[in-house]
Amino acid sequence: MGKGKGFGKTILFGEHFVVYGLEGIPCALGQITTCEVEKITGEKGYELIDNRPENGDYKVKKRGEYDNIINAILNHLKVSGRLKIVLSGDLVPASGVGASAACAAALAEAISDEYKLNLSKEEINKAAYVGETAGSGTPSGIDNTAAVYGGFLIFQKNLSGGENKIENITIQKPIEIVLINSGKAALTKEVVADVKNLRDKNPEAMQIIFDEYVKIVNEGKKALADYNLEKIGQLMDMNQELLRRITVSSELLESIIAIAKLNGAIGAKLTGTGRGGSVIVLTPGKELQEKVADAMKVKGYGVVLTTIG
Ligand code: MEV
Repeated sequence: MGKGKGFGKTILFGEHFVVYGLEGIPCALGQITTCEVEKITGEKGYELIDNRPENGDYKVKKRGEYDNIINAILNHLKVSGRLKIVLSGDLVPASGVGASAACAAALAEAISDEYKLNLSKEEINKAAYVGETAGSGTPSGIDNTAAVYGGFLIFQKNLSGGENKIENITIQKPIEIVLINSGKAALTKEVVADVKNLRDKNPEAMQIIFDEYVKIVNEGKKALADYNLEKIGQLMDMNQELLRRITVSSELLESIIAIAKLNGAIGAKLTGTGRGGSVIVLTPGKELQEKVADAMKVKGYGVVLTTIG
């Protein structure tokens, strides 16, 4: 039996902007998806057993997308037989935490193990990217990279097709965050396409936003290096403002952010695709983290208390 794993992720800075070759800062979560694959007899193809935690109808709704991801990875890695694929792990599959990328990474690694392919991290990442492309159109690669490598990263897509920039960041000590699941899922493919349309219609206005974002991510790198939590929070809020302007926020996300701020959060923004999905809230210290999480639970939202860094 071959085994693999992929990390869930959150994006501290840069969703959507990374699609255009700007730097983004993702961070892997402690929560992972694991995959076991086993060659079985029968025709080419696979049987999927999804033992990941339940989250409403996420798994049913996304099944088609997952089939596309799995088939693309099997083709890319030239798997010719039949496989039993079992997904497990503690990552609650939800929009915004890189659930599909974690699955793609775990599957690619498990196939490498089962077929003794000895794939390097780069090759596993490439296979996971091929899967993500089949699942959600034109991904930047930020999700699969965080899922494969783990840790806190600076990611930059190479728009000329060469190697992407992937750099590790270290910070003084982990920072508490709360991830809030809005309970709504949006299709990454559609939201990314809408941003592209916006840019095609008004490239000058978009360039102004891109330039503002570049300042934010550069200051963000410095604030992380200085462990300046207030500044990181402010920059997250500024990043959220730009996400609003490119139309990927929503009333629901804004109301979650407002509750977080009312309860003392020092920064809050959507994370991942937006228009639903998840919100990342910076809540240094366990007390603040629990306060914000409790306020969200009262409103019925699913929360994950974790750390970045
Ligand atoms: C999704 O987690 C992040 C997006 O920027 C899409 C991508 O980079 O592939 C919205």
